[in-house]
Amino acid sequence: MREATKRHYLMCPPAHFEVSYAINPWMRPDKPVDAELAMAQWERLRELYLELGHEVDLIDPVEGLPDMVFAANGATVVDGKVLVARFRHEERAAEADAYRSWFAERGYAEVHVPEYVNEGEGDFAPAGRRILAGTGFRSDAAAHEGLKAFFGLHVVVLTLVDPRFYHLDTALCVLDDETVMYYPAAFSVESLAVLRALYPEAVIASREDAEAFGLNAVSDGLNVVLPETATGLISELRERGFVPHAVDTSELLKAGGSVKCCTLEIRR
Ligand code: ARG
Repeated sequence: MREATKRHYLMCPPAHFEVSYAINPWMRPDKPVDAELAMAQWERLRELYLELGHEVDLIDPVEGLPDMVFAANGATVVDGKVLVARFRHEERAAEADAYRSWFAERGYAEVHVPEYVNEGEGDFAPAGRRILAGTGFRSDAAAHEGLKAFFGLHVVVLTLVDPRFYHLDTALCVLDDETVMYYPAAFSVESLAVLRALYPEAVIASREDAEAFGLNAVSDGLNVVLPETATGLISELRERGFVPHAVDTSELLKAGGSVKCCTLEIRR
């Protein structure tokens, strides 16, 4: 029996969302983005979390930071400890301080800004008492020692090899403490062997579903929110006893992000 547990999320409304630079292969500054539609799609996602019984906090969007809607990149929070992001690209650098202040102002005791580049939950996926840590494009491999020391959790390093799947959360999703879904071709041969050994029962995504950002999903242990175009994953999840909730994130996809990117989980 699968069971949902109540979650606490932090989201950022896409008030200043646009694609004005390209820092991943999905971003095309020459292609228009429908800002109103982006807001409506984001609103729907927030409402869905509330309908599922979760708590959603908001952080104020900052003008001039069009990618700030991708809250997952702002920090990693486990056991109430906050590891703040340090962005790879100058275009997003100032987001880190907005997230640092948000947590500091709300009395989180340990809010740490590390030296190494890390893009929060974009690359770090807590899974029970372990953290799956992606590297290859954004977060430094050097981050992993610090990650282990800060949280006191076991860290499993996973190397990404396809630039379209530049963050771990575009290639893998934690469904519950024991179950993940992932796209094999996004990982190095060594990392794939690690994943196969750790999760022999994993849900495997097809290329089509991975390209539809189907792995950029959010699970509460039962309900899995994911892009509606990931049809293969939607039926596979249902067969495995999960309850998929499909949403349209077409505008956010133009920046190379979807459901998970918009959602930072606060774990107490
Ligand atoms: N345009 C953003 C970037 O390239 C998208 C971030 C998506 N976030 C994520 N968690 N994968 O940084």
